[in-house]
Amino acid sequence: MKLIAGNSNRRLSEAISERLATSLANADIRTFKDGEVFVEIHENVRGEDVFLIQSTSNPANDHLMELLITTDALTRASASRITAVIPYFGYARQDRKAGPRTPISAKLVANLITTAGADRVLTVDLHAGQIQGFFDIPTDNLYAVKEFEQRVREHHNGDIGHVTVVSPDVGGVVRARALAKRLNGRPLAIVDKRREGPGQSEVMNIIGDVKDQHCLIFDDIVDSGGTLCNAASALIDKGAKSVSAYVTHGVLSDNAADRIMQSDALTRLVVSDSIEAPQDVSDCPKIEIVSIATLLAEAIRRIANEESVSSLFD
Ligand code: R5P
Repeated sequence: MKLIAGNSNRRLSEAISERLATSLANADIRTFKDGEVFVEIHENVRGEDVFLIQSTSNPANDHLMELLITTDALTRASASRITAVIPYFGYARQDRKAGPRTPISAKLVANLITTAGADRVLTVDLHAGQIQGFFDIPTDNLYAVKEFEQRVREHHNGDIGHVTVVSPDVGGVVRARALAKRLNGRPLAIVDKRREGPGQSEVMNIIGDVKDQHCLIFDDIVDSGGTLCNAASALIDKGAKSVSAYVTHGVLSDNAADRIMQSDALTRLVVSDSIEAPQDVSDCPKIEIVSIATLLAEAIRRIANEESVSSLFD
């Protein structure tokens, strides 16, 4: 087995390589002055089972090109199998025609990855499970729910009697229910956002009883932080005792860390290391990072040994 890291998430790649006791292959992935990506793999990969680790996080297009061009280099170097390990699959929110004359970019990205020569994809908490069907190659979608469950139990010192899991929108109910089930079947609440008419401000209804509960918002992506902060305020208004959030992919664009910091309603945000945290995120005292390195390393080990990956979640 060979592990190769793109430039998007060096820390996570190193953590995965430590857990697998396999060093990262010697490769140069760099950008010329005009912005073109150039890749040089400095060791033999002929006949190897290669795992290329790269999140298509910000800057999404540069990281995507690195993934594609490195895959091309590996194909031309006769690797026997290439698994694109994409801890955060960017463009996933563009998974349908949102309006007339708009693209389905998630499908285009899936096509590009396949055309570049990837034989399989390994990813984590896809925005929508059905994106797996955009790939005509085997795609394993891992769930980071166990990692978050463990962190929730630590935060509550094992006493989860007053915990309610909250989905911040109707689309995230299945994900939130999975966490609630793992937390001894704690109740579920749903934030129902709707705009009554054009130009009118958004109304947030809470479906479920959150009074005197410690609410845990569970989501796949935090980007601007707007969804989380608004949901947290609505929950506090409905009598929640506290609100914290557990989100797999910390996109956290622009001033999101500041916004999280300034929210009176939100006590804490936990994100995974699927996206490498920039300085403002690592420095934010309200944001914690939970690692998915062990989850990814175990899945890689199982794929390499042709073992079941789904049984990781039994
Ligand atoms: C939406 O469907 C996603 O699950 C997230 O809730 C959304 O992308 C978060 O975006 P933001 O943090 O910008 O509100």
